[in-house]
Amino acid sequence: MKNTRFALSWIGFALLAGSFVTVAAFAQAPSSTDPQVAFNNHCRTCHSAQPGDNRLGPALHGVMGRKAGSVEGYSYSPGFKTTDLVWNDANMDEFIANPNSVFPGNNMATFAGLKDAGDRKAIIEYLKSLK
Ligand code: HEC
Repeated sequence: MKNTRFALSWIGFALLAGSFVTVAAFAQAPSSTDPQVAFNNHCRTCHSAQPGDNRLGPALHGVMGRKAGSVEGYSYSPGFKTTDLVWNDANMDEFIANPNSVFPGNNMATFAGLKDAGDRKAIIEYLKSLK
């Protein structure tokens, strides 16, 4: 009898723990337009938000309002080296939608552009927060 009770309380515990995990998973379910989640999903493979942390792409800390192609120590493709473009909402939106339309032949390589305007807006919001 004692053993059965012991076993039942373990089953109860397991069920309880299981439901906690489920609740936690739901609580963290990302909305597609959460700025940081959108950035993590689409950009973080190649970009860090930390200053000076160049990965495959240049660090994006402080990028809004900055001259394009100006992160120190990062080797940009030729289009970036000669540009006078300063990043703002409009040109960043265009760049994220279609990098080649702003800098033809850029090195963003496999990143073909993000079609979802809501995600682009969220990402620009996130970039603005990196100060
Ligand atoms: C496949 C890797 C990759 C992904 C994914 C990627 N990038 Fe890039 N990004 C790069 C590379 C490489 C460069 C440098 C381009 C060059 O030199 O031509 C770059 C350059 C940039 C620049 C120019 C920075 C400057 O200093 O002027 C911005 C802005 C940028 N990316 C934003 C983004 C955003 C926002 C996303 C997500 C929507 C993103 N990138 C996704 C690789 C990537």
